Amino acid sequence: MDEKDIHKMIRVNQAGEYGATRIYKGQLAVFKNDPIIQEMAEQEAIHLKRFNQLLIEKKVRPTVLQPIWHVAGYLLGMTTALAGKKVAHACTIAVETVIDRHYQEQLDQLKSYLEQEDLRQLVAECHLEELEHREAAIQEGGEKAPGYSALSEAVQTISKLAIWLSKKI
Ligand SMILES: [Fe+2]
Ligand SMILES: [Fe+2]
Repeated sequence: MDEKDIHKMIRVNQAGEYGATRIYKGQLAVFKNDPIIQEMAEQEAIHLKRFNQLLIEKKVRPTVLQPIWHVAGYLLGMTTALAGKKVAHACTIAVETVIDRHYQEQLDQLKSYLEQEDLRQLVAECHLEELEHREAAIQEGGEKAPGYSALSEAVQTISKLAIWLSKKI
C-alpha cells in the first residue's frame, strides 16, 4: 500500500468520524439529555480527535466536503430524531452498518502492513465502538421504527456515497 492509499484512508475516516459527531449532535438537539446518545456522541468525539491528530501528524489534507458533512450530518441526525427516538436509532443502525463494513475492509487491508500498525490499532478500536453503537441502537428498538427498511436503505446509500466522495476529494 502506498502513501497515497494511507492518506485516503485517514481522510475518509476523519470525514466519517466528523460526520458521526454531527449526526449525534443533531440527535442531541432533540433528545437533550439522553444518556445513551450522549455516550455515543462522546465516543465519536474521541474518535474524531484521534483522527484529527493523525491528519496533522501525517500532513493529510482533510476532505474539501467537510462543510457539507457539517450541515448534512447534523440535519440527518436532527430530522430522524424529530421523527422519533426509534427512527433516530434506525439511522444509527444504518450508518454503523456501513461503517462496520468500511472499517472491516480497512482492517483486512492493513493487517499485511506492519508499518501501519498504529493506524490499524486506531481503526480497530473505533470499529469496536461503532459495533457497540449499532448494538445499543438495536437494543433501543431502532429496528422497530416505522418505515425501517426504506429508511435504512436510504441512510446506507447516503453513507456509502459520503464515504466514496470523501475518499476522492
Ligand atoms: Fe466513530
Ligand atoms: Fe459510531
